[in-house]
Amino acid sequence: MTVPAESIFFDLWSASYDRAGLQEATNRPVHDAVLERLGDARPRSVLDLGCGTGQLCERLRALDADSRIVGVDLSDGALLHASGRSGGDDATPGDDVAAGAGAGPRPIEFVRADAQDLPFDDGAFDLVICTQSFHLYADQVGAVAQVHALLAPGGRFMIASVATVTGFGDDAIRRATALAGRPVKAIPKRRLRTLLDDGGFDVEHQGRIPRLGLVPWPVLTDATRRGSRARPAVSSAARGTRPRRR
Ligand SMILES: C[S@@+](CC[C@H](N)C(=O)[O-])C[C@H]1O[C@@H](n2cnc3c(N)ncnc32)[C@H](O)[C@@H]1O
Repeated sequence: MTVPAESIFFDLWSASYDRAGLQEATNRPVHDAVLERLGDARPRSVLDLGCGTGQLCERLRALDADSRIVGVDLSDGALLHASGRSGGDDATPGDDVAAGAGAGPRPIEFVRADAQDLPFDDGAFDLVICTQSFHLYADQVGAVAQVHALLAPGGRFMIASVATVTGFGDDAIRRATALAGRPVKAIPKRRLRTLLDDGGFDVEHQGRIPRLGLVPWPVLTDATRRGSRARPAVSSAARGTRPRRR
């Protein structure tokens, strides 16, 4: 598997991503909010989409050592850190990595894949979580369709992503970040609600997550999969067609 150009930034960032100050200020509040929202629910199979260095996967495993937890990311660097955190010693860039093999809690599975083209069976998961990653997806409609297909009926999709307050803010951030070669789609929460509704989800909750920093607070969206709809074989981004703008 070749290294996708868009993962190189996160390969480099992953080396310092787990630094204590950064964690406390930016990532921990987001993970706390997701776990608080999860409450006593203990889904049997969880996918952490854009799992980064695997912090949330590890906290999920601490909640339930027997559930299947899979972390997916594009970045080899992030996955190597994730595997190391979980006790794996056989992380090989380009391979799927099963971390922490042996007795004890069920090993977390780390898989390199693109959120817009996920290599899992339909209905394989009860819960998909996506923290601080969704705003990076070029084809957000395609990613939602992928998640819809691999969730079991009634499954949950929790997104905690940077979200502007207005569409103007979204456009401004998109234009500014496009100049740097990586457009960020920090869609306002109403647009995300519509996107999920169109993609076959009922949105149960949306709320801002207070944290330090200058960028708008992330929005936590909790949605339930309804109905059935086939996953597209190839996302619109992969086909090179223009994704529907939200
Ligand atoms: C800001 S980090 C967030 C990591 C982690 N979820 C957290 O909350 O700390 C964003 C992650 O999304 C991953 N990512 C970006 N685009 C992706 C894509 N299309 N498919 C899978 N992962 C992607 C990056 O490699 C990076 O590890």
